[in-house]
Amino acid sequence: MATRMHDTKELQRAPARPAPAAEAYDVEGIRADFPILYRDVYGKPLVYLDNAASAQKPRQVIEAMDHVYRFEYANVHRGLHFLSNLSTSKYEDARELVQRFLNAGSQDEIVFTRNATAAINLVADSFGALRIGEGDEIVLSIMEHHSNIVPWHFLRERRGAVLKWAPIADDGELLVDEFERLLTPRTKLVAITHMSNVLGTVVPIKEIVRMAHARGIPVLVDGSQSAVHMAVDVRDLDCDFYVFTGHKTYGPTGIGVLYAKKAHLEAMRPYQGGGNMIESVHVDRITYGKPPQKFEAGTPPIVEAIGLGAALNYMMQVGRDKIGHHEAELVAYAHARLAELPWLKIYGTAPGKGAIVSFTVDGLHPHDVATVIDRSGVAVRAGHHCAQPLMERLGVTAVCRASFAMYNTKGEVDALVEALKRARELFT
Ligand SMILES: Cc1ncc(COP(=O)(O)O)c(C=O)c1O
Repeated sequence: MATRMHDTKELQRAPARPAPAAEAYDVEGIRADFPILYRDVYGKPLVYLDNAASAQKPRQVIEAMDHVYRFEYANVHRGLHFLSNLSTSKYEDARELVQRFLNAGSQDEIVFTRNATAAINLVADSFGALRIGEGDEIVLSIMEHHSNIVPWHFLRERRGAVLKWAPIADDGELLVDEFERLLTPRTKLVAITHMSNVLGTVVPIKEIVRMAHARGIPVLVDGSQSAVHMAVDVRDLDCDFYVFTGHKTYGPTGIGVLYAKKAHLEAMRPYQGGGNMIESVHVDRITYGKPPQKFEAGTPPIVEAIGLGAALNYMMQVGRDKIGHHEAELVAYAHARLAELPWLKIYGTAPGKGAIVSFTVDGLHPHDVATVIDRSGVAVRAGHHCAQPLMERLGVTAVCRASFAMYNTKGEVDALVEALKRARELFT
């Protein structure tokens, strides 16, 4: 049966569901929007606790994308026909939603990329070419995801840049004084996570930015984990660059975001060349378009951007503070319940940490733990989580990670605990 045609603006902007009453957090109502949460695995109800790797999608996102493909799809920006104009306006509406989501000053500061990794590579390449040379220093934290490490290693290999690493305390908190001591006249960039994907540590970005800016050093924030768990205001943070990835914020894969202050985007060379990003091309010269188009070479991920817009809209409708509050309760409950298990060790207990709990079980390899509890329907991730320098700091090669989303419940934390007990019994 054909889907009913919706007004396109309404699809993106209409409340996902009636907004919850002021204080209430209607987790069951939210769950009802995520079809996949109702499936079984191995005959058991799915308990999806792998949200830090990728979050599930509400039907509002699925339907928004389906609707575009059925009724509104065409390439953007270069058409003079109805559908192309419609697609373009929806694509640009999505940019406006991202701007609102981050409280950026202008839509021109929002560049769509393939994911967070592509956004960081863009900055490493374009900003690196502009500002980072032999002997120049880039300060990272030891908690970074490989996405915020490897592009800087490229600059080390290709241009002789020097990487410096801000340490953490044993509870996972960033040692801010030690961080500040790493800043020197040779420091050209700080590239740091807002929230660790392993420890859940939330980094005091405003303080980091203040320290860096006092020395004229720009700051890139990897918001891949923070964007989904807390309200982010890039103007308040005053960071120069902020990146996040669509699939972790309940949106589709294949879409990410680079926020950058306009002055940086104007000064930086384009990252890739092709259609869409030029002003004019001649046989002997070329001029580039203005940001953000200057950084969006080729046909962009049109439907993915629209899907991301629907996801961010959904989060804003539920209320990011409410989501944050719900997840803070969940992570506190998870810590309390897991503390009942004397054979389990938690990594990351910094004050104010986000909704991620990493752990190991005495005598068992994290992969075995994850594989066994999967049979109970409980999905967690095990491994180095693309954070090998952090694993070295923690003295482990792998950990299990349970990570929570707006739709998780305390009952699911209980299911995790029971599955872990059964796994332990199986092996001992
Ligand atoms: C902190 C952090 N940064 C960056 C990334 C990379 O995201 P993507 O693979 O979507 O580019 C991830 C994904 O796991 C992450 O957790």
